Amino acid sequence: MAHRAYLRFKQILPQRVKDVLSVVNQRLFARRRLQRKYGAWFDVDWRKKFRTMSDAEWIRAYDDVWKNHHNDCLDETDSALILHSIAQSGKRQNKNVREILEIGCGFGTLAIAMAKEGYAVTCLDVSTEALRKAESRALRDNISIRWEQGFAENIPFPDKSFG
Ligand SMILES: C[S@@+](CC[C@H](N)C(=O)[O-])C[C@H]1O[C@@H](n2cnc3c(N)ncnc32)[C@H](O)[C@@H]1O
Repeated sequence: MAHRAYLRFKQILPQRVKDVLSVVNQRLFARRRLQRKYGAWFDVDWRKKFRTMSDAEWIRAYDDVWKNHHNDCLDETDSALILHSIAQSGKRQNKNVREILEIGCGFGTLAIAMAKEGYAVTCLDVSTEALRKAESRALRDNISIRWEQGFAENIPFPDKSFG
């Protein structure tokens, strides 16, 4: 409840103040929460740990995160900035980008924003729990997105499938 009020309050602040709050939030609060639950490795040492975890353990860890956490940093996704970058990159390459693959879509904040802009969006995430949450958010907004469970390290689509 307090968190929602904070997010609403943030909307009225100038962008520069929002950026500072965003950094403080991610550095202090979101990170601390994860560290408390999973230990420092999840944040600080996850790359090293990843090499020693099986795929099933990695999926379980992220499913657990998605079941038990409201991950603050996801409310911070700057979809407008990312959409602007996509449009700019299309212009630079003289390409009309219409299809997007988002890898690690989480609970769909960016994916839904991109679909609302008219892109055909496919989402890949390792966590079925994240995908379940994302899909139900998209359904609420009547947004159609293709959801796939899988690993960034082994993308289940041929090269140049999206463009
Ligand atoms: C910070 S969240 C993504 C937020 C989302 N991009 C947005 O802006 O709304 C990171 C996501 O990456 C997923 N993830 C982590 N490791 C992954 C991997 N190896 N392959 C695919 N997804 C992964 C997690 O399950 C998590 O949902």
